[in-house]
Amino acid sequence: MLYFQFSILKIINMNTTTKHGFSTRAIHVGEELDFSEGAAGDVVVPIHLSTTFARSKVAEATTGYDYTRSLNPTRKALESKLASLENAKYGLAFSSGLAAESTVLLSLLSPGDHIVAFDDLYGGTKRLFEGVFSNHGVTVSYANATNASLFEKAITPSTKLVWIESPTNPLLKLSDMRAIAAITRKRGVILVVDNTFLSPYFQKPLDLGADVVVHSSTKYICGHSDVLGGAVMVNNDTYYERIQYHQNAVGAVLAPFDSYLTLRGVKTLSLRMEQHQKNALEVAQYLENHPKVNRVIYPGLKSHPQHDLIKTQASGFGGVLSFEIKGSIVDAERFLEKLKLFILAESLGGVESLIELPSLMTHASVSKEARELLGITDTLIRVSIGIEDVKDLIADLEQALN
Ligand SMILES: Cc1ncc(COP(=O)(O)O)c(C=O)c1O
Repeated sequence: MLYFQFSILKIINMNTTTKHGFSTRAIHVGEELDFSEGAAGDVVVPIHLSTTFARSKVAEATTGYDYTRSLNPTRKALESKLASLENAKYGLAFSSGLAAESTVLLSLLSPGDHIVAFDDLYGGTKRLFEGVFSNHGVTVSYANATNASLFEKAITPSTKLVWIESPTNPLLKLSDMRAIAAITRKRGVILVVDNTFLSPYFQKPLDLGADVVVHSSTKYICGHSDVLGGAVMVNNDTYYERIQYHQNAVGAVLAPFDSYLTLRGVKTLSLRMEQHQKNALEVAQYLENHPKVNRVIYPGLKSHPQHDLIKTQASGFGGVLSFEIKGSIVDAERFLEKLKLFILAESLGGVESLIELPSLMTHASVSKEARELLGITDTLIRVSIGIEDVKDLIADLEQALN
């Protein structure tokens, strides 16, 4: 009953503002003004730290809230905002991207089920499939989702779920999401899309036919490299009920303070994404013309093999690019250690530019043979372009390359 009341509240929040643009919703949804008696009229939703909520009658939660793991006002504000931004009916906020992913898998799969996943996928997601869910009777096969009809061949009668990222990490490969959604619908399979790389500002997989969207909100949604978080967005009532039930049952919720910081960060998502993209395009073009660079991978470049595809399913290209410098792994390490402004660190999506060498950092756990099969060479460098002055970023790359 309680859960039902709050589902309705979320829908009301969303419907009152669907006519508004993305930036307006990023600021206002979930933080509607409260002029009721006793309310202060906060412009910003307060951080409700209370873990438990008082009731005046034994048999019912008077305010609708009873315990923060089940429902918390600050987290609820964030969940409403994220749902609205993704054009979703429901949103849920988790303690990390991987907590969100684990809860989706726990909620929607049973022993004996099979997953088909894009072969170029965030390493932690592969670890979750192979190191955790395989111990509970779930099997996984990987296939190249850049070709939807070849990808379909990996689906078997026991396939329950398809998992993709687009663009992927670190090779920025794309899948035709509408084509894959048509296949999963026809085969009665659930389509999950990890939308971390483009954020809901540039891409809305539910509108393209996906059933579930997951995010590491640690990245662009929060945007300031100071909160670990995750999110799940769905339209389907049954999936929402199952995921919400499991989230509460396993306790994978985002803390009130982290919900507040994420609410604060997401308000500037549109501004940040525009600047990330503008800077990324300029840096990609600079690198493409540099004699010490072998190749640059950025979906916004005409040279990207799926440049035309991304324009049909997203409104932007994002802020992550990869490039390969000429020489050996030692040259790549020397280059990275010479940078002054780019921070040598894993992760992405923050306001600061981060750079890393997948072969020795994010993808070190993948064997060299498997990396090379995918195209992750020793000198492939991944960059999350921040929102600094682009001339300073290019000057830093120039001094380190030369
Ligand atoms: C695409 C993608 N999905 C999921 C995750 C996992 O998110 P988290 O680190 O918030 O658990 C990451 C982390 O880097 C990621 O890049």
